[in-house]
Amino acid sequence: MGAIMDRQNLTEIVKPQSTIDRGGILVAKEIAEKTVWDKLALENPTHAVISAGSEAEAAKKSAAQIADIKAHVQAGDILLDLGTGYGRVAKYLLPQMSLRGYVGVDSSFEMLTLFKQHYSASEAEQQTPLLLLNADIHTLPLRDASVDVVIVSAVFLHNHKSVVEQAMAELKRVVKPGGTILIYSSFPRAATLMGMQGLAYQAFLNLIGRPFKNGPVRYYWRREIMHLFDGFTEVELKPVGYALLPKSLIFLPKPIDKVWRTLVAKPLNRALEYITPTFLKYYCAVHFDVVAKR
Ligand SMILES: C[S@@+](CC[C@H](N)C(=O)[O-])C[C@H]1O[C@@H](n2cnc3c(N)ncnc32)[C@H](O)[C@@H]1O
Repeated sequence: MGAIMDRQNLTEIVKPQSTIDRGGILVAKEIAEKTVWDKLALENPTHAVISAGSEAEAAKKSAAQIADIKAHVQAGDILLDLGTGYGRVAKYLLPQMSLRGYVGVDSSFEMLTLFKQHYSASEAEQQTPLLLLNADIHTLPLRDASVDVVIVSAVFLHNHKSVVEQAMAELKRVVKPGGTILIYSSFPRAATLMGMQGLAYQAFLNLIGRPFKNGPVRYYWRREIMHLFDGFTEVELKPVGYALLPKSLIFLPKPIDKVWRTLVAKPLNRALEYITPTFLKYYCAVHFDVVAKR
């Protein structure tokens, strides 16, 4: 590949008449109403996207993920970052390798504005043409077979499962045959004590007539994840993390939950992980990461 693409060329992968240019960010005509993420972007974006108190901590927490992405991406690729947030991945990846194009999609305009700010201030990031799309993950204003690699990091879990199903159909459509999909921290396991609480919470949301609320964590059975990847090849599920005790008690008042998290769950899980035989650790994993080919 090699030919450097400018932003003008990169916009050619956008469906005609599907977006409006708002200060360099393309807003999908179908964008849903403002999300909670706009508010979080203004308050503390690093905490919102990766539970980090500072930029330095976010950089440290991102290192292993960036190394993994680098292993799957080539310089000639157009990479789609679905639910890109403030562009954390681009911020650490692009100074290490430039790509043919980086496409950041997010339903939060505020998050994309933060992305645009650090991109505009970084010559290293600007070596890669950037396209920012203010759009929903399940209605992508992109042409068929227009991107080579997709990353989805900590996005699916906050959406209703029907939205995720539609988003996966969109990914099938926009990824080139042979392209790669990398999913991080998006499929928390239902077969855990935390997962049981999450399933109960979804039942509660259904009961109060707010099943689609964006934000609460959705938990997955292995077979549900495999079903989402029907039509993909080389689908690999990687168990990540360890938690036998639930890290949070979501139905209890926040102060009690905080005591549980810090004084009970965290130290006990650490001790339990130490004594759990390796062959049993799979059953205590917190979530599955996925790598697959289109
Ligand atoms: C926890 S943050 C993760 C951000 C980024 N992927 C990262 O790992 O740094 C989740 C992001 O997904 C976006 N998001 C959640 N649901 C979305 C949806 N249905 N459509 C588009 N973006 C969505 C939010 O606006 C937010 O910026």
